[in-house]
Amino acid sequence: MKKLIKNGTIVTASETYAGDMLIENGMITSIAVQLDVPDAEIVDAAGCYVFPGGIDPHTHLDMPFGGTVTRDDFESGTIAAAFGGTTTIIDFCLTNKGASLQSAVDTWHAKSHDKAVIDYSFHLMISEINDEVLTELPLIMENEGITSFKVFMAYKNTFQADDGTLFKTLQTARREGALVMVHAENGDVIEYLIEQALAAGQTDPIYHALTRPPELEGEATGRAIYLTELADSQLYVVHVTCADAALKIAEGRKKGLRIYGETCPQYLVLDQSDLEKPDFEGAKYVWSPPLRERWNQDVLWNCLWSGSLQTIGSDQCSFDFNGQKELGRGDFSKIPNGGPTIEDRFSLLYSEGVAKGRISLQQFVSMISTTSAKLFGMFPQKGTLSIGSDADIVIFDPNVKRTLSASTHHMRVDYSAFEGMEVTGEPVSVLVRGEFVIKNKQFVGVPGSGQYLHRQRFETSTTLDHPPVTEKVSSGGMS
Ligand code: URP
Ligand code: ZN
Ligand code: ZN
Ligand code: ZN
Repeated sequence: MKKLIKNGTIVTASETYAGDMLIENGMITSIAVQLDVPDAEIVDAAGCYVFPGGIDPHTHLDMPFGGTVTRDDFESGTIAAAFGGTTTIIDFCLTNKGASLQSAVDTWHAKSHDKAVIDYSFHLMISEINDEVLTELPLIMENEGITSFKVFMAYKNTFQADDGTLFKTLQTARREGALVMVHAENGDVIEYLIEQALAAGQTDPIYHALTRPPELEGEATGRAIYLTELADSQLYVVHVTCADAALKIAEGRKKGLRIYGETCPQYLVLDQSDLEKPDFEGAKYVWSPPLRERWNQDVLWNCLWSGSLQTIGSDQCSFDFNGQKELGRGDFSKIPNGGPTIEDRFSLLYSEGVAKGRISLQQFVSMISTTSAKLFGMFPQKGTLSIGSDADIVIFDPNVKRTLSASTHHMRVDYSAFEGMEVTGEPVSVLVRGEFVIKNKQFVGVPGSGQYLHRQRFETSTTLDHPPVTEKVSSGGMS
């Protein structure tokens, strides 16, 4: 059935205006100051913003880590995402050395296809580059529409790849039209600092942060940028936490390099002192890279405002405090890394960013949705409200005040990292391709209704505003 969103304030990355919006067959088909369509279901958005659905470019659902598995899978995780205003996620598909890439992608399809309630795609982790991988990668890109690769520079002896692998991945991405993503921390040095700390009897959660100092994030970020420059490729640095790393990205962009940076809500509102909470509660705040000294938050906000950082990912990776985070009692290095954030990403950026005057409404939409759609080959199908775009829409009440809490969130995890925080604004209704997933704050979606998205290659995103490349990459077009 047709739906007509009336009386709302439509907000995109470029404008804000009062208007009505018609949805037919899952798409936006008309936008005007006033529309009257007798046979359409009316959705009253009076007093609300009408935003493009949030795009979360960084999630880990149903992911094994450190001998356990994240609590949220593609069902609970995408339901929570929808409550929070997110209509598309890109999850990280892990790969195993020696196994085919296709088998890894098939595993991720099996985890997601009958569970997701919103649309989704995958980034592909690259742990080695050999002849088999080089043969298979173009096929995966073509057949699966996966056009972004992830390389871990940390997590020695598990996910970490060496610099040669990163460089070859960058060259391959340049040739094929893909975006390389890095977790930038110096894993070798971290491993040694952890050994030293444990040998000295330093076992509490705070030593997680102290053995992963910002210098090692800055160093790895700078190294990845140099390798990107050498390969004339493109790089997206995930979960930037600190001045050391953010300023390397700013510097790279000033040189005209195709470098992009993401930060996450936790780094904007929490800090290193949270790891010192008593009774092992600090384990709730163990992320890699770690939370930083509070002054770094100002630097991150400035970088978001000035454009050195462009996107917000949740890095959703949830483990219960009881039973899972507790694996690291007596040895901080065994605390599973990550936290529950998928539901709060959108509202925290609105509340801390827009409502507190740090970023504009247009910047908000760009960071929470549009720029991820462009960088990851989904624009303008996703990431904006324009005629012909998917009707992925968030009707957002900017005036509600509420308190974040594990007692009211929808993530399947026994704590909130943001417990007790008051935020301004709340998604009221959320539509994916024109169907309600959240209607008046109630879940009405259907597991399995989320669609897998085949994404375009990096260089075919012609609307992307990055410095011109000197030589056109051959690219396969839309898939
Ligand atoms: O602590 C984190 N960030 N856990 C998720 C895995 C990763 O490094 O992104
Ligand atoms: Zn597929
Ligand atoms: Zn990471
Ligand atoms: Zn992550």
